[in-house]
Amino acid sequence: MTTTTGPTAVTGSVGVAHTRVEGRDKVTGAARYAAEIPFTDLAHGWLVLSTIARGRVTSVEAEPALAMPGVLTVLHHGNAPRIDVDYQGLLGSPDPVVGVFQHDRVPFVGWPVALVVAETSEQAREAAETLVVHYAQEPHDIAFSAGHPGSYTPEADGMHTEKGDLEAQLAASAHVVDAEYTTPEEHHSPLEPHAATARWDNGRLEVVDSNQGSSWIADELTKVFSLDPGSVRVRSEHVGGAFGSKGLRVPQVLAAMAATVLDRPVRVVLTRRQMFSLVGYRSPTVQHVRLGADPDGRLRALDHQGLNLSSTVHEFVEPSAGFGRPMYDADAHRTHTRVVRLDVPTPTWMRAPGEAPGSFALECALDELAEKCGVDPIALRARNEPDVGPVSGLPFSSRNLVACFEEGARRFGWADRDPRPRVRREGRWLLGTGMAAATFPVLVGPATAGLTAEADGTFTVRIAAADVGTGARTALALIAADALEVAPERIRVRVADSDFGFAMIAGGSMGTRSWGWAVMAAARELREKLVPGGDIPAEGVTAKADTGALLGTLAQKERHSYGAQFAEVAVDVATGEVRVRRMLGIFAAGRIINPLTARSQLTGGMIWGLSMALHEEAVRDQATGAPVGPDLAGYHVAAHADVPHIEADWVDDPDPDDPVGIKGIGEIGIVGAAAAIANAVWHATGVRHRNLPIRPDRVIEDGVTEGRVTATGGGSA
Ligand code: MOS
Repeated sequence: MTTTTGPTAVTGSVGVAHTRVEGRDKVTGAARYAAEIPFTDLAHGWLVLSTIARGRVTSVEAEPALAMPGVLTVLHHGNAPRIDVDYQGLLGSPDPVVGVFQHDRVPFVGWPVALVVAETSEQAREAAETLVVHYAQEPHDIAFSAGHPGSYTPEADGMHTEKGDLEAQLAASAHVVDAEYTTPEEHHSPLEPHAATARWDNGRLEVVDSNQGSSWIADELTKVFSLDPGSVRVRSEHVGGAFGSKGLRVPQVLAAMAATVLDRPVRVVLTRRQMFSLVGYRSPTVQHVRLGADPDGRLRALDHQGLNLSSTVHEFVEPSAGFGRPMYDADAHRTHTRVVRLDVPTPTWMRAPGEAPGSFALECALDELAEKCGVDPIALRARNEPDVGPVSGLPFSSRNLVACFEEGARRFGWADRDPRPRVRREGRWLLGTGMAAATFPVLVGPATAGLTAEADGTFTVRIAAADVGTGARTALALIAADALEVAPERIRVRVADSDFGFAMIAGGSMGTRSWGWAVMAAARELREKLVPGGDIPAEGVTAKADTGALLGTLAQKERHSYGAQFAEVAVDVATGEVRVRRMLGIFAAGRIINPLTARSQLTGGMIWGLSMALHEEAVRDQATGAPVGPDLAGYHVAAHADVPHIEADWVDDPDPDDPVGIKGIGEIGIVGAAAAIANAVWHATGVRHRNLPIRPDRVIEDGVTEGRVTATGGGSA
């Protein structure tokens, strides 16, 4: 026992750059990920996925596999224990793909049909690859298009908003843009593949996995296996990227199922290729935008209609049409979302679901409108700034979009830009600049946190937060340090253990805001308990907080982050290649806790936007329904050589209703980035690209080469 320490006055950790507290563990390999943590007597499962896109499994020839070295069992629909995926979890009912081996139906290529479990991973793989599965195949439909007869409006909330007479306002407009934009199927592919190990320990199911919320996954597994509350513990100490893909997935369920059957620890790890079928992805979209404006660019009409696909077994909505709802007012305003169900895997949340593809369409359409009106694209947006939520009528908690434009324009050198397209040239390169606006909602969820003053003068935070690579642990250490008025080196943060109680997931950009709130509340409790100068007993002094009730008192407002994205591109007239030369993003995204990791997260989003603009496109073979080249060789993502000088910065924008001023920065970095690049490509070439990615063949076909553009008057393709 030491005599110490109420908090002593040290302030100013929040807002000061701090390297990740677990950084050394990560770069030295001391940090263990889900597939690396040693377990005694561990068995290994290897998945077998369907090779047909629709039909049913008629039989699984398990006997030859069972005779192979080390093989312990082959689980399939004929012998698997019954589980339940027909329940409501935190985010609704789960994707039925996690209801493994419960029936013989196959709704897409890559559906789990068997798990081979063996003493070693190699033995399991060997047997899995020789396993013969017989199918009764049926015709499939994977063709996604705007005109698909099966499209419908989902019954979920927020699929349709409408005010004013759209057709009348379009007819009265001096300038009209009416265009269709498309984005392709895109995949998260976080560096660390999905993996889970499960074992029974004194009547408790213990799972080590890679997830975005350990208490969330524990609750889901409790429901899937119909267990008593509290009988599942999930830990996920280090996570190598998630981006929306790491919820309840096949590995956790299969590891737990096999551990139950075999009564020993079982690990299931997905391959990169399996991830293309089993962990969700971003749906392709077709978006139809109609804008009508007065001569000065004031919007009379805004109509945004988005279509996405989903599987036949689960409805997922990519709400791309929602992007403009809080952004721009118009006399007539309509947003509408439709879905079509095909024989493909279920899409899911992927960084800025809705806003990422939605901003591409609407922010490109606004650029087209600016061109038609002869108004600067920034001035056009500023002219359409709403005073209250255009659809909701609610006040904004804070709205600093114009400040982002001003700071961004100054730093990018926007004032020197010649608005005419195709006027800058450097040898065979056509040069252009473009911009777009960004927004993302500010959300918060309940969380419980524990905070202990230890006898040695340090403090321990315990919260089931998920550090998916964002630096959340470090951010929480800085928040706790300021709340306790101690140096951050005295704070230890333990995360990602469901036994710490419920905490909101790392998703919807609300992780740090939700957890920071709970840590602040726990710190306040602890300071009440600590006697200044008093002794701390050996077991420490612990305070706990649960923000559930607090959050109910938040007033209804439009709460959003904002950003302004700028890009400069060079387009090779000979090859059609687009190179991004520089990007600048200025954000109004609440108080920034750790500038070092925040900048990294924002530029990471912007780079993904670059990748979305120029590279990413998952292709399916219409004949088989299977993804083509489903790995990081076949699925092209931006690499170092594609990434130019990128700068992210922010304007002062503390959230007025958050105890720390946080808004959340996980997703806004990608929003608008692809549109800024597409708009820059138009400025360089005089050709509009409305279909992503902007591949060289599309640039060539749409007429970038000398002569063709001038022959068509340099107009829109
Ligand atoms: Mo994010 S797509 O909410 O994990």
